[in-house]
Amino acid sequence: MHVRGLVDGQEFLVKHANGLANGVSELQHLFPAGSNVEDSDALPVIWEKPEEFAAAIDKAVAATQKFVAAAESGDKEAISSAFREVGGSCRGCHDTFRVPQD
Ligand code: HEC
Repeated sequence: MHVRGLVDGQEFLVKHANGLANGVSELQHLFPAGSNVEDSDALPVIWEKPEEFAAAIDKAVAATQKFVAAAESGDKEAISSAFREVGGSCRGCHDTFRVPQD
């Protein structure tokens, strides 16, 4: 994945990184018990394995926080490695807890 091209300039990158960090920290509130509705890509395993789901959220929160710190530092190496970790944490949860997408 290429961070450059996606975001233009460091200031914007920091904002974007913060947006991601805020987004994933909201995840824990998005799927309360009983919110499993028909029209959703959320798999029932979310409510069957709440601990694993919480662990996947923690991982994404940690990865995005690291990404914020890397973006603020402006260190290109740190930015790309943190960005890869963020992507992996998103995918890690989607692979298990979301209906596979085409
Ligand atoms: C802890 C689990 C988890 C993590 C971590 C996670 N997601 Fe998701 N994501 C989901 C689930 C579950 C859905 C399906 C929600 C639904 O359909 O109700 C989803 C849906 C989405 C969608 C589709 C939204 C829509 O309107 O259909 C996007 C885009 C997305 N995630 C992006 C991300 C990105 C980017 C990250 C990482 C920064 C991320 N997700 C991290 C669980 C997660």
